[in-house]
Amino acid sequence: MKIVLLGAPGAGKGTQAQKLVADYGVAHISTGDLLRAAVKAQSKLGVEAKGYMDAGKLVPDQLVIDLVKERLAQDDAQKGFILDGFPRNTAQAEVLDKELSGMGIALDAALLVDVKADVIINRLSSRRTCRSCGYTAGAGVDVCPRCGGEMYQRDDDKPETIKKRLDTYESQTAPLVGYYREHGILKEVDGDRPVDEVYADVKALLCL
Ligand code: AP5
Repeated sequence: MKIVLLGAPGAGKGTQAQKLVADYGVAHISTGDLLRAAVKAQSKLGVEAKGYMDAGKLVPDQLVIDLVKERLAQDDAQKGFILDGFPRNTAQAEVLDKELSGMGIALDAALLVDVKADVIINRLSSRRTCRSCGYTAGAGVDVCPRCGGEMYQRDDDKPETIKKRLDTYESQTAPLVGYYREHGILKEVDGDRPVDEVYADVKALLCL
């Protein structure tokens, strides 16, 4: 399994990725999670990335590309991976194509989880995320069901930042739908249904 998950902030990319990882043991490469880990560690990258993330903007391409290249080279990614939140613009998609081609592999699919903006604003305003492992759930879940960690509200899940993230998605990331359609690997799922219904369709689309 070598796939890219596409979709607006809060569409459910991470939720579907968590289920695929649990069932198929592939590597979950979430650039958002990698960047939040860098922010938490207060590394040079984290300090630089935080301002962009809090403003709902994309972190500069080169910082994210280096992170992804390093992660793709790790052992657990060799048997398959889910790229969640990368690529986020055409420049990143072209670098990814080149990098994978250099590794002698190609993407199997780019899966768009399609959800309308009004649904997304409600979901993100009530989302809670685990500080330790990144697991996500709705409001009211205070302890992570996966690792027992503390659930918190992400800094960028505040209403004013959600709006900016949606604008960034529309202007910079949505064009990737056309990019992957032209490459013949786009698959689309209606993400505005219960999680398990969406997942059943995801598995069917990926022939799992
Ligand atoms: P990132 O962490 O990637 O955020 P995002 O793309 O905005 O996606 P989210 O994690 O918010 O949403 P999701 O689709 O995974 O939804 P989830 O499954 O959690 O990026 C954060 C920031 O980092 C960016 O703004 C940017 O600054 C930077 N960044 C990251 N990658 C970058 C890149 N490549 N280049 C440059 N900058 C980058 O679900 C959301 C909620 O809905 C949860 O509460 C969940 O429980 C619930 N839910 C999920 N599915 C359903 C369903 N079917 N029905 C009801 N509720 C559901």
